[in-house]
Amino acid sequence: MKKDLLCINDLSKAEIGAMFQLAKELRAKRQAGIYETPLRGKTLAIIFNKPSTRSRISFEVGMYQLGGQAVFLNSRDIQLGRGESLADTARVLSRYVEGLLIRTFKQAEVEELAREATIPVINGLTDLLHPCQILADMFTLREKRGSLTGLKIAYIGDGNNMANSWLWGAAKMGLELSLGTPPDYAPDAGILNAAKLEAQKSGGRIEVTTDIYQAVKDAEAIYTDVWTSMGQEEESKQRLADFAGYQVNRQLLEAAAPQALVMHCLPAHRGEEITAEVLDGEHSIVFDQAENRLHINKAILMRYLG
Ligand code: CP
Ligand code: NVA
Repeated sequence: MKKDLLCINDLSKAEIGAMFQLAKELRAKRQAGIYETPLRGKTLAIIFNKPSTRSRISFEVGMYQLGGQAVFLNSRDIQLGRGESLADTARVLSRYVEGLLIRTFKQAEVEELAREATIPVINGLTDLLHPCQILADMFTLREKRGSLTGLKIAYIGDGNNMANSWLWGAAKMGLELSLGTPPDYAPDAGILNAAKLEAQKSGGRIEVTTDIYQAVKDAEAIYTDVWTSMGQEEESKQRLADFAGYQVNRQLLEAAAPQALVMHCLPAHRGEEITAEVLDGEHSIVFDQAENRLHINKAILMRYLG
């Protein structure tokens, strides 16, 4: 296995399968009240330059449940915020802790940290990717449907870090993925091309369309995410206008396969990318996704820090 988790493409299909199995075991143990402490004495440093509820708490709690501890660092509070280089921060933290979880803007920053650190670096979200979330999402889907093979997923909305992560996820696991995005909000072109090539090997299929009804046709899951991601707040008014026809609502859900699942990484904006009725309705599995962040993140911690 590679030292770092910067993109889900850093893992092989077999490694992802092993991660899912471990997450399942960890969930069963937690449900049975069994806590083992394989990470006793180990510390995870968390540097977040953007807000977080799920990622921060599930990783911190995950470390505690596995017998280790987490140290949360806001870059404003450490010397990084006063100009100390990423490289020096990585080298120093490597002397103190066993792993580093980073949430920031540029993917290049996470890559630089990983190059300079001798400890594993885990990407807790960048503008480009959100690998821990996509692992939890695919795990959730597999638990609900028994298998991922051949499933069709429709991703509706912004071609953002979640859309890019779905491209890699679908390519890796052999899913059919249809992304319904407005013309100017398509996913990253480089990732799209690379994922299409990868999908040829795995039996996956990827398409991008501006027609959301084409995207959801026969889809067994509809996934959406916010129209305005963290860091894009100044564009939010423009985005509200540009995404107006790209909402996941009852009419769209009815155009998907019967019993289609509704997914969202959260936080959600009811009335924007998804209606309250659908997000809180019987097809929605968003809180299972959120719960599974804990189990998957514990599996990630065991694999990378163990
Ligand atoms: N889904 C997700 O990453 O949520 P947070 O921003 O709350 O961590
Ligand atoms: N695309 C969203 C995901 C939040 C978990 C963002 O980057 O803000």
